[in-house]
Amino acid sequence: MRRIALALALVALPFSAGIALAQQDVKERSDAARAAALDFGMTLVGELQKAMAAGGPINAIGVCNVEAPKIATAKATEKKMTIARTSLKLRQANNKPDAWELARLQSFEQRKAAGENPMNIEFGEYTDMGGKRVFRFMKAIATGEVCLNCHGSDVRPEVLAKIKELYPQDVATGFKMGDLRGAFTIVQTP
Ligand code: HEC
Repeated sequence: MRRIALALALVALPFSAGIALAQQDVKERSDAARAAALDFGMTLVGELQKAMAAGGPINAIGVCNVEAPKIATAKATEKKMTIARTSLKLRQANNKPDAWELARLQSFEQRKAAGENPMNIEFGEYTDMGGKRVFRFMKAIATGEVCLNCHGSDVRPEVLAKIKELYPQDVATGFKMGDLRGAFTIVQTP
């Protein structure tokens, strides 16, 4: 009896140590991805506010449109991961979610509906992407006041006209404060 228990312990020990290591790895990767998302988000909001103050929302369209991907690339290179944004209601077709992202965005909406604070909604896991094992992470983006200028229900007509000119397929309006505007999406290659 004792021998069986010992044998079981010997088998279980490296196994549980392995699980602990894996959990630690997921935590570290999630921490790095979350930090990158927050850094990208803060830089973006800072640039948006500067451009809005300088020339109103029409001037600031360039920040969300031209600057955002540039900032994302710079941050990503610095941190050795890819960072982008996606949403269930898109403005830029290039930001279309893939199947993994779509499932996460839908679950984020359910989590918010269940009362979770959007600031804390995130998800990360190891998964396959194009035949490669990667760590993927998403963090919800809540709609703030400044966002309503271009994503709200009463976007100024001249702003809306400019948006429609640049993005004829746009459906990223009608958001209210606190709604999930979308999510940051991060890929780390181990
Ligand atoms: C001045 C207008 C403007 C403001 C203000 C603005 N956005 Fe945008 N937003 C845009 C444009 C234009 C795009 C398309 C970007 C592109 O072409 O990559 C966009 C795209 C996005 C996307 C990517 C998904 C998609 O629909 O393509 C997210 C997420 C997003 N905005 C969130 C926000 C949030 C959150 C705020 C507030 C902090 C905000 N935006 C404020 C104009 C704006």
